[in-house]
Amino acid sequence: LRLWVPRDSAALAVGADTVADALQSLAALQGVPLALVRNGSRGLLWLETLVEVDTPHGRVAFGPVMPEDVAALWPALCAEARGEASAHPLRHGLAEQMPYLVLQERLTFARVGITDPLSLDDYAAHGGWAGLKAAAAMAPADILHQVTHSGLRGRGGAAFPAGIKWRTVAHAAGETKYIVCNADEGDSGTFADRMLMEGDPCLLIEGMAIAALAVGATEGYIYVRSEYPHAVATLREAVARAEAAGWLGADVAGSGRAFRLQVRMGAGSYVCGEETAMLESLEGRRGIVRAKPPLPAVHGLFGCPTVINNVLTFAAVPTILARGADFYRGYGVGRSHGTLPFQLGGNIRHGGLVEKAFGLTLRELVFGFGGGTASGRPVKAIQVGGPLGAYVPESQWDVPLDYEAYAAIGAVVGHGGVVVHDDTADMAQLARYAFAFCALESCGKCTPCRIGSTRGVEVIDRIVLHRKNPGVRHQQLELLRDLCDTMIGGSLCAMGGMTPYPVLSALDHYPADFGLDAAPLA
Ligand code: NAI
Ligand code: SF4
Repeated sequence: LRLWVPRDSAALAVGADTVADALQSLAALQGVPLALVRNGSRGLLWLETLVEVDTPHGRVAFGPVMPEDVAALWPALCAEARGEASAHPLRHGLAEQMPYLVLQERLTFARVGITDPLSLDDYAAHGGWAGLKAAAAMAPADILHQVTHSGLRGRGGAAFPAGIKWRTVAHAAGETKYIVCNADEGDSGTFADRMLMEGDPCLLIEGMAIAALAVGATEGYIYVRSEYPHAVATLREAVARAEAAGWLGADVAGSGRAFRLQVRMGAGSYVCGEETAMLESLEGRRGIVRAKPPLPAVHGLFGCPTVINNVLTFAAVPTILARGADFYRGYGVGRSHGTLPFQLGGNIRHGGLVEKAFGLTLRELVFGFGGGTASGRPVKAIQVGGPLGAYVPESQWDVPLDYEAYAAIGAVVGHGGVVVHDDTADMAQLARYAFAFCALESCGKCTPCRIGSTRGVEVIDRIVLHRKNPGVRHQQLELLRDLCDTMIGGSLCAMGGMTPYPVLSALDHYPADFGLDAAPLA
């Protein structure tokens, strides 16, 4: 009997370890030889713990399996393994054919939920290391050309072209160069980095090793937020195994070039996801934003040229090297090439991970994949791109999700987080929360963010208090817009510079929640 029970944090949170233990106990009791694989999550989070059984027809899925379900599930699993379809109420048929998965275009997440994250053999059997092998046989300039031509842009949120960033580092003067992975996934409602690190860590390692070969870096760091202890443990183990197998270390994939990788844990600060604050933290200091320029690509970690990319950016690279830049470039629309792993969260029926080419719409994501709200009430607002992203109203749910189309409506795609709110949401309170979040997480280096965030909370409180007093309300609304202008134009980094996005979108699209009949003129 061969079973899969995820080891992903989302599954562990709902009792996956207890389910796995119960299955093992039953097998031992009944003398059934059991191969139990702890895979990553397939990303259908409402079905966790999703248990899969190997059958003559493929892997059949059951979920959500609670520890108390295991005893009744056991005979069904044994029957399925013999090729007899069961009528168990938690049965979903062949995992690969579940509509949520069939409709996706999984390039980066192609293996997640399928393989054993720590098995190098499993990784290789599913196409792993092909990109690194190809890169090891190429000149650095050719690797740079492939990444540039693929159109890959930074998946952390800023969407800067990865090939141009890598080329800057490759051409920068300096004997030592670094590759740093920003895995400080702090955006509320996002979890793709974590799922990838826990579910397919070798893909990130492979992408970083390719970057090292491209720019001539010899050392790398993965900076993981402290809230991700399982990702840290999985990565550390995967790095040790990859090094023992010759994919990292003195001679990367037989290239004759060295690259060593370390995993570092952050200390719990949102702003350490900002790249220069992250460098400060990596160097052992408090995470405070540095002024740019100089860019980290020229003067980064310990003053050396440094490639800094997000987990999903590095994880897209092996596919580009293995299958060609044109293959990757063929996905997407406009200048947004490839796929983005979207993360559906908040008040949504079917929350989880959906990897699709750029160009689908929010309506397709939230209603097609997500099935609408979990509460069953109408959707009111959808925040895209994390806590600093705009609230997108229904009139914009058919805009294609690509970087430029979203910028044109004053919104951001960001890291692909999609958080749904139903019609009970009070947008004035959500706008207030954006300021409060900024006040809490501000590093304090610049005035518009440090002081402006606190003033923003106070101004919104006054607007709400004086909803019925047009004179005071109007004056405070003007003040709010002035404050937002100052924060957008005068903040040193995106923390203060983007906090006005959720605030202004809430005000412009949901004026009634601020006591107005229509949006006030900007
Ligand atoms: P940015 O636009 O200043 O820079 C983007 C990247 O390109 C940086 O790595 C920068 O060093 C690099 N770069 C810019 N010009 C370059 C050049 N000429 N040569 C080489 N490299 C160059 O944006 P920033 O401040 O790094 O990121 C802001 C974004 O972060 C926001 O759009 C937001 O969506 C996202 N974000 C993501 C979070 C997450 O959890 N993933 C959390 C908070 C914000
Ligand atoms: Fe620090 Fe905020 Fe200024 Fe960014 S905008 S440097 S987080 S004070």
